[in-house]
Amino acid sequence: MTHNATRRNGLTLARRAAAAGAVALAVASLQPVSAQAADTRVIGGKPAAQNEFPFMVHLSMGCGGALYKKDVVLTAAHCMEGSGNNNRITVTAGVADLNSAAAIKVKSTKVKVAPGYDGTGKDWALIKLARPINKPTLKIATTNRYNRGTFTIAGWGDTREGAGTGTTKLQKATVPFVTDRACKWHYGNRLVAKEELCAGYQSGGIDTCQGDSGGPMFRKDDAGKWIQVGIVSWGDGCARTGVPGVYTEVSHFAKDIARAANAL
Ligand code: ARG
Repeated sequence: MTHNATRRNGLTLARRAAAAGAVALAVASLQPVSAQAADTRVIGGKPAAQNEFPFMVHLSMGCGGALYKKDVVLTAAHCMEGSGNNNRITVTAGVADLNSAAAIKVKSTKVKVAPGYDGTGKDWALIKLARPINKPTLKIATTNRYNRGTFTIAGWGDTREGAGTGTTKLQKATVPFVTDRACKWHYGNRLVAKEELCAGYQSGGIDTCQGDSGGPMFRKDDAGKWIQVGIVSWGDGCARTGVPGVYTEVSHFAKDIARAANAL
């Protein structure tokens, strides 16, 4: 993870803490800087097979993403530095192992961060690629009907909270949907319920973590095809008991995302 991404993730945590008051501040600031900066993996997962999730991409600042179109990646706003021309991001696709010789590497040309993004909710962004990547795209949910059941999460982020050691091998896990109401037992009004959804086990142990941000949370649709319902966004620590992961609610933004992708 680059210095920039490190600062950005720290900033996001700090902003959220400031907005949420003393309790949140205590939780967030207890995280050592190294934990915030950690290029970490899915916690409690196992390695994904080559080509299992062909739409998954890795971003050079230490985030994940998914191919929304052959030349457009959907990721998290908090992984980006803002909208505009940008040729500084390297997108790696086509491999579970980042060191594989088969890795496809393409540069960004432009970034579009969600309109109105200020660090709370609206955590989505699009990256335009210098050339199309010939891999399957991941369609996004356009209604809330898939905000239920069990989701797959995947990423190259930390496998332990605060580990600070990214993995080169894509990790995967499954986590159950958590209702907004239950998610608020821990997060209260820090959860932007309309724009975010939660997932995780009450007992903890399995979660996304630092370095997984921007990656997709997905499930099968009624036709048995993968569909994206979430974007890895934030959480208090990783995989803690009673603390779900928080994901951007993709269906809420589906129209905005489609519009932004067409304009990119
Ligand atoms: N903000 C983190 C990142 O930049 C993702 C954290 C997800 N946390 C969680 N407990 N699910 O990589």
